[in-house]
Amino acid sequence: MNIASYSNSFGAENHSFLGARAALIHEVQRGLLKRPRSLVPWMLYDAEGSRLFERITALPEYYPTRTEREIFAESANEIVAAVCSRNPAPVRLLELGAGTAAKTGILLDALSRLRKRVVYIPVDVSPDALDAACDSIACLLPHVQLQPLVANYVTHPPRLGSFNGTTFAIYIGSSIGNFSPEEARTILRNLRSQLRAGDALLLGTDLVKDEATLLRAYDDRQGVTAAFNLNLLHRLNRELFANFDTTCFRHLARWNCAESRIEMHLESTRDQHVFIAGAQLGIHFEASETIHTENSYKFTHARIYTLLEDSGFCFQEVWTDRREWYAVTLARAT
Ligand code: AVJ
Repeated sequence: MNIASYSNSFGAENHSFLGARAALIHEVQRGLLKRPRSLVPWMLYDAEGSRLFERITALPEYYPTRTEREIFAESANEIVAAVCSRNPAPVRLLELGAGTAAKTGILLDALSRLRKRVVYIPVDVSPDALDAACDSIACLLPHVQLQPLVANYVTHPPRLGSFNGTTFAIYIGSSIGNFSPEEARTILRNLRSQLRAGDALLLGTDLVKDEATLLRAYDDRQGVTAAFNLNLLHRLNRELFANFDTTCFRHLARWNCAESRIEMHLESTRDQHVFIAGAQLGIHFEASETIHTENSYKFTHARIYTLLEDSGFCFQEVWTDRREWYAVTLARAT
């Protein structure tokens, strides 16, 4: 089903396509000319990148998705009960980033047992992602009302219609781990500005653990994560008519202890020249020069607590797995 069938405010689709291409060119020019060179994580998620990420989430080494799903499967009833405990008002579930609805479905299902009317508002920059999220929820839970919202919640507060009840915001999948502490605060403050005191936030975050486990999760044996990272160069070849020889770059995963994050880089394996026609850019890479492509921050409970406090929320309750590898934290807008 097309997104137009759920909502009607989308003359934005064409505009967002033009905007996406301009943003790609802008980021390539900005990121590849500075030292150290870097590109931004959202570039990893074109159609092929999103497919590869889906494969990553099923890898034996990649524990975050599986662990978060286990926490939801075990504690969804408890989580929604904690959200609904304060009053009997209707609830709308607002999701930053229209995730694969598998995990969200568990929460919406649990919520449906406590409330007659449940509204689901997935927010994403990508209309395709919203389409997918709405389709799977419509199929799984036909009684849930869908109100998809095309918005870049990283740069702007998502503008919500007024609602007489509790807004239950969720930001799961450790997506917040892609952002620096300052950016993470901005995202949560933007969200907070659209909420009322007492509204709820459920935040999914990956936790700090032994380095070997972390590195394995970002450098799997089958090389799916490597393909995911290298797809960024394929994307620039496809969309910006670049001539990256992807066999001359290799995937690197590093643990940056001081910053508490896994970093992904692409390393040039030899001296080489690349031309990116669509960005009017020629670049010389020396052997072992790198492009930093992604950060994945790992949290402690103390850092989650501080991030929430700094963004206008207060901690309510946390759920983790047995190994304490992943945390699902419930907070309230203060
Ligand atoms: C989608 C940001 C949660 O950081 O674990 C997975 C992205 N990159 N493997 C993560 C990712 C490489 C993922 N997030």
